[in-house]
Amino acid sequence: MTFYESGFGDRLVDPANYPVEIVDFLKDERRALAEALVHADTLIEVGAMDGLSLEVLHTFPAVAYVGIEPALRYVRAGNQRLKRMGQDIRRRARFIHADATSLSGIGARIRGAPLVFFPFNSFGNIGDIKPVADVLASAGFSFAISSYMQTEHALEVRRRYYAACGYDELRFEQYTEGQRFMSREGFCSWAYSDEHLIRTFSECGVTVTFQRVGLDIQFVRGG
Ligand SMILES: C[S@@+](CC[C@H](N)C(=O)[O-])C[C@H]1O[C@@H](n2cnc3c(N)ncnc32)[C@H](O)[C@@H]1O
Repeated sequence: MTFYESGFGDRLVDPANYPVEIVDFLKDERRALAEALVHADTLIEVGAMDGLSLEVLHTFPAVAYVGIEPALRYVRAGNQRLKRMGQDIRRRARFIHADATSLSGIGARIRGAPLVFFPFNSFGNIGDIKPVADVLASAGFSFAISSYMQTEHALEVRRRYYAACGYDELRFEQYTEGQRFMSREGFCSWAYSDEHLIRTFSECGVTVTFQRVGLDIQFVRGG
């Protein structure tokens, strides 16, 4: 069973474990996502959990939502959550039990111009990003990746955040590809370096740009 499927990941989305900087991260993320959505017809949220960005639909009445999530427990939670929401949201939103590499398969079923969005460092939870970059490139989708800055401050915030989640044997490793935290439960979260992202996407013919949206958060844009 994966880290997220077994429920260990629930702690990462429990506000009781958020340092104040993570609260700010999520506020900045919401604001920058709203700006990025202005030209989109469909928000495809990858690593959506139970719909991390679902609430943005209230501000964008014409935008549809597709949540892509590999952990079935969150797909179920997302569907339950939709049942409690108004009909207006329910008719525009759905969840798909799949991982990021299945994006190309759903392309044909998407209405209008999509924005593929990776919230709250979901991209950093993908261990092998090259197949995902390939799929984004071949589908030609616009995308925005919400990830941590590569700064001492962001690193220290992550350390406090993951420690508050109570993971066992939490350890940090630095590579040219980025900064990685791991734990005994199977937690593995990268903040990929800008150089690694530039190189990986350029191998698929995609240019990425970096938009600083807050003290600890940046959006990596492409497509
Ligand atoms: C939103 S991220 C939370 C990360 C955390 N905030 C951090 O700092 O690392 C977690 C989500 O990413 C999802 N995820 C992990 N690998 C994925 C993949 N290959 N494709 C799509 N989603 C993935 C997980 O299932 C989970 O729902």
